[in-house]
Amino acid sequence: MRNESPTPSPDQDEDDFLCSVREGLRSRPKTIPPKYFYDAHGSHLFDLICETPEYYPTRTETAILERHGAEMAGMIGSRCTMIELGSGSATKTPLLLKYLTDDAVYIPVDICEPYLVKSTQRLQTMFPALKMQPLCADYHHLPALAIKRHAGQRQAVFFPGSTIGNCTPNEAVTLLKNVARLVGPGGGLLIGVDAKKSAEVLNAAYNDAAGHTAAFNRNLLTRMQRELGAQLEADQFTHHAYYNETHGRIEMHLVSRCKQAIRVGRESFKFDQGESIHTENSYKYSADEFRRLARSAGWHLQSTWRDAHALFNVHYLSLSAAEPLKLAR
Ligand code: TRP
Repeated sequence: MRNESPTPSPDQDEDDFLCSVREGLRSRPKTIPPKYFYDAHGSHLFDLICETPEYYPTRTETAILERHGAEMAGMIGSRCTMIELGSGSATKTPLLLKYLTDDAVYIPVDICEPYLVKSTQRLQTMFPALKMQPLCADYHHLPALAIKRHAGQRQAVFFPGSTIGNCTPNEAVTLLKNVARLVGPGGGLLIGVDAKKSAEVLNAAYNDAAGHTAAFNRNLLTRMQRELGAQLEADQFTHHAYYNETHGRIEMHLVSRCKQAIRVGRESFKFDQGESIHTENSYKYSADEFRRLARSAGWHLQSTWRDAHALFNVHYLSLSAAEPLKLAR
């Protein structure tokens, strides 16, 4: 095995979760940052969502990568350092790794350590010669990440799953600027972005009949019980996800079924009946909207691949070798 053990992240400790929950529940509207979905149970529920018939993005993006992976890897360069952000169970990654040379380097970055360890082991068994350097971290803090540069290789980021859609457009620009700073001049970005489409298809995707998305959303509450000793009844909140056409985003909420109070530590948080905790957004972008967003972060669109129904886009973007970068701190 050539992979190194993941670096533990300071973000994952309970204090951080407690502070974020307190701060989010004090604000109006109430929110909780979506990164806390991804403990081991939440990451497992997320895998179940990806397999539901309603949740088309995973299947669609996988098919695009299966079909065009060779061309994508050709553009990135087969001898590269590939950094995957939010790698999770990394099921799509082999579709690219199989085109890389043995001296390429793969760096998966994920917040959920058990998932990171398991998926890196699986990939290392599939590609024994490839050097792998897993990093357990929150990719929102990219500037602070200790990612080694490998001389003579293009640095490229792989960011699938339309995860960029879980940022607001402003946050997305900041993240894309930070990715630019990470990969440096001449670097690349292969990114999957869900497209705008009918509200009916979108609403179904985030309200699967098996209830996995609802369980995933409610896992935030049970995680608060497990890790923070929060006093609440998870059943007294319902999963609500809908497409907000005005903002071009799916919104996910936990809606209080009744007037109630929950306790976290010494603090009590009151809810009216119907009041929600806004837990996530998933912005949808047309190819052109995304090209403009990425351009404002310094990226040049090189190529876009999509499925026959135009449900999902995979873009390859690059930074010119000489361009001076105005980058976010
Ligand atoms: N980024 C993907 C999306 O927005 C995956 C995802 C994140 C997701 N959180 C989710 C899917 C919650 C379903 C429910 O679609």
